[in-house]
Amino acid sequence: MPKGVKMEKYRPKIHFSAEDYIINDPNGLVYYKGEYHLFHQYNINEQIYWGHAVSKDLVRWKRLPKAIAPDKIGQIWSGSAVVDEENQRMVAFFTYSEHETKRQSQGVAFSYDKGRTWEKYSGNPILTDSREDFRDPKVFRYEEKWVMILSGGDCVLLYESKDLIHWNQISSFKGNQESHTGVWECPDLFPMIVETTEEKKWVLTVSVNDGSPAGGTGMQYFVGEFDGQKFIADSNQEKGLWIDYGKDFYAGVTWNHVPKDRRLMIAWADNWQYRDYLPTSPFKGQMSCVRELKLVQKEKKYILKQLPVKEMECLRTNKHEMKNIKMGADEEWTLCDKKEVLELDISYPIEKIHAQTFGIKISTGKYKAPVDFTQEFLTIKLLMDVSQSELFINNGEVVMSNLLFPEDFYKVKLFATGGDLVIEKSIIYEMDEIMNHPLDGDLI
Ligand code: FRU
Repeated sequence: MPKGVKMEKYRPKIHFSAEDYIINDPNGLVYYKGEYHLFHQYNINEQIYWGHAVSKDLVRWKRLPKAIAPDKIGQIWSGSAVVDEENQRMVAFFTYSEHETKRQSQGVAFSYDKGRTWEKYSGNPILTDSREDFRDPKVFRYEEKWVMILSGGDCVLLYESKDLIHWNQISSFKGNQESHTGVWECPDLFPMIVETTEEKKWVLTVSVNDGSPAGGTGMQYFVGEFDGQKFIADSNQEKGLWIDYGKDFYAGVTWNHVPKDRRLMIAWADNWQYRDYLPTSPFKGQMSCVRELKLVQKEKKYILKQLPVKEMECLRTNKHEMKNIKMGADEEWTLCDKKEVLELDISYPIEKIHAQTFGIKISTGKYKAPVDFTQEFLTIKLLMDVSQSELFINNGEVVMSNLLFPEDFYKVKLFATGGDLVIEKSIIYEMDEIMNHPLDGDLI
């Protein structure tokens, strides 16, 4: 697209995007004093900052001025933030991509005004190494200390600290060989209570910068134990499982200090294969919806389930519902070809599916994912934005997220071939734009 041409028609209506320039990874996700912070990689003419937005409900975001700027040491790459209660401040950890040496090292910054302004630590960088890949610190609280997990390229490195400044390495984790289809980036490590058994497990996530099921960048996770020193994956989970089977869910990380122990993830809805070539201007890049994660046990493995946070329901407007309808063989129904933003929920009783292929058509691209057909119903939730679709199958057991840029409006169609089926329920909610629900004025 020629420079200077505005292409706003693909701007998402229920997902976060920056006003202008290029965004990538979410950074510094932290909840503090009633606000969820979303910092993000913000590339402004090849200078890399942390951009900033806040929300009270994880749905409606208020954009704030850029938070952390590149300096004489380097560009500000990805990282995390925590609340240091003792000193009443927020502390951000980021990677310096150093100008001169091209080395990666870790830096720290402090904020005493709810993330609005930041002071960099005078002793930066606080952590250096000779590895080529040494980045994306995620810091979290573990009992009486802090733990940092960091990408080391073909592994993740774990460090501990009492004061957030001095860090000692305690262990590393690699997973099995098949988990290395590309360089590991943006790791995260967090505890989860298994839904059905109530036991506590630890989940380690990484972004892999090549070789994902749909091609290019994607995310994996491992499940196991963490004793404050070492993460050990369960013996049948040393090979990472893919988090999302679409092309566009990358660099996802979770919020720190969220009330009620909810585990909330957001990712950059994009792929490094084409980050700079999206047909949008003056903005490039958008985030996924915020997803709540759950861990369940299935066939002797622990698997992550993801669904949009329930707060998103506030955007629902008109509801269109159909119940118990039969779809004949080789039929195709257009559910929508005008409304740009919607949420669709469908359930199919599995024993009444006689079709050979069936489901939803959104665009011409095809991606594959393994789906379980042993339960009573197959359920599909689709969040459809102007230029992003997020598909959650079987209550979020399998997820597929994709950008799409249709010439005109996209169409959502239901189809069945080679046999009939029954749709037990189909609900379409029209969705309102997040920008139509301004946040209360007290966020600044
Ligand atoms: C992941 C990533 C990170 C890095 C950042 C730079 O998308 O490559 O590893 O910190 O983007 O923008």
